[in-house]
Amino acid sequence: MYQSSLPPPHPESLALSQSLSAQIIDNIHQAGGQIPFVDFMKQALYTPKLGYYSSGLRKFGKSGDFTTAPEISPFFAQCLANQCQQVLADFDDPVILEFGAGSGIMAADILTALENLHCLPTQYWILEVSAALRDRQQETLKKHVPHLLERVQWLDQLPQQAIQGVILANEVLDAMPIHRFCVEEQGISELYVGYQDSKFVWQQQVTEHQAFKEAVTQLQLPVGYISEMNLALSAWIQTISDILAKGLILLIDYGFPSHEYYHPERSQGTLMCHYRHHAHSDPLTLVGLQDITAHVDFTAVAHAAHAAGLHVSGYTRQAQFLLATGLPDLLSKLDFHDTQNYLQQTQHAKTLILPNEMGDLFKVIALTRDIDTPLSGFVRDDRCRL
Ligand SMILES: C[S@@+](CC[C@H](N)C(=O)[O-])C[C@H]1O[C@@H](n2cnc3c(N)ncnc32)[C@H](O)[C@@H]1O
Repeated sequence: MYQSSLPPPHPESLALSQSLSAQIIDNIHQAGGQIPFVDFMKQALYTPKLGYYSSGLRKFGKSGDFTTAPEISPFFAQCLANQCQQVLADFDDPVILEFGAGSGIMAADILTALENLHCLPTQYWILEVSAALRDRQQETLKKHVPHLLERVQWLDQLPQQAIQGVILANEVLDAMPIHRFCVEEQGISELYVGYQDSKFVWQQQVTEHQAFKEAVTQLQLPVGYISEMNLALSAWIQTISDILAKGLILLIDYGFPSHEYYHPERSQGTLMCHYRHHAHSDPLTLVGLQDITAHVDFTAVAHAAHAAGLHVSGYTRQAQFLLATGLPDLLSKLDFHDTQNYLQQTQHAKTLILPNEMGDLFKVIALTRDIDTPLSGFVRDDRCRL
């Protein structure tokens, strides 16, 4: 089932979607007629072999559904590498741990840049939930940095020992399943998914989930307001805090501080779907064939970090971060005699930093443990008071 305004799926994609839908419908029946949206999103994205991130379908880049910053320009990873260098240089056997490495291109570009800076980490670990993407990452790294492959390791689970180094996650938080809610006269309702008349449908039910109810009530939103909340965020931040003995966690994603996230005018939330470069707001269609995302509440990230004993050392817009970590210098080194390449690279850099592109909506937050030096990425602009 798909909206007619969207490009029709290929027959093999449609078959995949039908298999996944059948599994979800089964789960809905077994659960008595409905499942919480958070479970629907988890199954749509991460069911082994069939979920959006778990299947072999192409997701990133022009031929996929959306394009992330490291896919747009290697400058993104090179700037991240500059920030990593500042931290890694002080450690003996530093490790970089990347969550959700997508196509693997960011890892390849970071390793290349750190090699040029003579600051390679002893190990570059990748923790990826999707087996299909893990294969893709291995191909990418083999192609781009075969001589550095021995430093790269894919982890099946979190490391047993805490590391010294840098933990990275670009556009990972937005891909985490979220709880969806609606404020009603009689209380806070959780949004569920049922299956009626051969299609997935929204349902809602006043929630008995105490922590969820309290967190939404505290936001003091008007009746009718629909939005979402990542209830798994605190546990995730606690987990990554536990594995960082000393160093930096850099999280990059689209989102806002809480007061903007739950702004009265954003009364339908931030849930978005991406399918072949079309953005729309219906997650119940194209099951398994489209990305489903929600923006990140960076105030919640900061609170979770404090609770986990981390220091929030920087928070800024992507544009400011990239400008502070060397983007102007990288641009100045481009050969302008090679006109075509020059124009292309500068155009891509613009996409990363212009306010109406990725520059303002995307934010970078730095969480640290035992790092005293001010981080270079936040010297131009730091909005730590979220
Ligand atoms: C939107 S993609 C971003 C990919 C890549 N970081 C990039 O910027 O191109 C989200 C990625 O996060 C992964 N992912 C989602 N939840 C995760 C988790 N809890 N742990 C590790 N990876 C996760 C997905 O499988 C996917 O690789």
